[in-house]
Amino acid sequence: MLTHVLIAGRKGSALETLKTYLHGVPGINVRVHVIANGHIDPLHSVADFAPDIVLLHFEAHRTAELSAWAARPAAGRPPLIVVGPGGHADATRLAIRSGARDFLPEPVDRADLVATVQQVCAELHAQATQGRGTVHAFVGAAGGVGSSFIAANIAHMLAAHARRRTALVDLDLNFSPTAHHLNLTSQRGLLEALDEVGSLDADALAGFGSRHASGLQLYCSTAQHAVPSKDVRTDRVSAFIALLASLNQDVVIDVPHAIDNLTANAFGLAAEIYIVLQQSTLHVRNATRLIRILRDELAVPPQRLRIIVNRYAKKALLQLDDISRALSLEIAATVPSHYARALESSDAGVPLYEADRAAAITASLVGIVAQMTGAKAARPGLLRRALPSFLRS
Ligand SMILES: Nc1ncnc2c1ncn2[C@@H]1O[C@H](COP(=O)(O)OP(=O)(O)O)[C@@H](O)[C@H]1O
Ligand SMILES: [Mg+2]
Repeated sequence: MLTHVLIAGRKGSALETLKTYLHGVPGINVRVHVIANGHIDPLHSVADFAPDIVLLHFEAHRTAELSAWAARPAAGRPPLIVVGPGGHADATRLAIRSGARDFLPEPVDRADLVATVQQVCAELHAQATQGRGTVHAFVGAAGGVGSSFIAANIAHMLAAHARRRTALVDLDLNFSPTAHHLNLTSQRGLLEALDEVGSLDADALAGFGSRHASGLQLYCSTAQHAVPSKDVRTDRVSAFIALLASLNQDVVIDVPHAIDNLTANAFGLAAEIYIVLQQSTLHVRNATRLIRILRDELAVPPQRLRIIVNRYAKKALLQLDDISRALSLEIAATVPSHYARALESSDAGVPLYEADRAAAITASLVGIVAQMTGAKAARPGLLRRALPSFLRS
């Protein structure tokens, strides 16, 4: 898949420099477009070149082109990367408003530019191969926070309550916690499926997963030996998730609490990343760090991040406002603490929606499922709320 990159701006020399920086990057086709003759629309008179990515260069105190871009309907805006002098609040604001994937201040670092373009290429490729299913990733800010338990129960509710075709992928290849939470076992597992991913179809796929009575399909490792994440081929994981997304309405990934090739790849594939934390400074510190890595190193736009506060207690020292402010993100949901209920469900392998539909902990998770499945109507609101707090001021 060849990705068409348009480098647009008023200053020809700056555009040519950006072009030389992208020279030799595999899989892309670059066109330079100097905006001139009183036009401000970056796409004016480039009708013969439908860009997949636009790299827009602006000059100091000249943001008319950015404004014109922000005014375009969202559907007519391919992913945007903005390049220009740093320290321009106006430009930053416009860039964020128009959904820019990144803002690269001058002087541009070549490696940064290439990495950003490649990241957007990977996202486009993932979208193109993702069929119609939505990929949701769940990760904890620390071990034991309850992210696997929540991922397993949400996946179950998507199938049992929302009646959606749902697959759950457990990327904790050594412990497969979701198999425990759902009391499922399978003969062949995720690793075997990855070995054969190139030749799998819907029928063959079922042989590598285990089916819950709700219809939920779980894919997890059944390995008895240690599985280092570096031994797993991320391109195969991507292909596997893409296949699941083409066959399901929802794909939930339980992502272990670690930053490595496997988890970074999973974050790149997800349309929504749920970060689960508790009301503790350690968790807030870890979540802040995770969000920074996601944003700065993995180029994940903040609009994709959702915060869940688990074991929520009203009277805790750390209030939701404090957490929201520290993370510069709204809290998407809280889940109350219910030790006995949760432990019993997990120990028996009976998901909450079956075990106790009326419990507050169950209701809170059903609320998250409603947000996930009603996300289309709620999207503009969610996006607005997820923007950094300075935009709201
Ligand atoms: N809201 C909650 N209230 C009480 N216990 C919970 C809650 N959420 C999760 N737990 C308990 O925490 C245990 C560990 O959760 P798990 O999701 O496996 O951890 P991790 O965050 O490391 O993935 C679960 O077995 C469950 O019993
Ligand atoms: Mg876990």
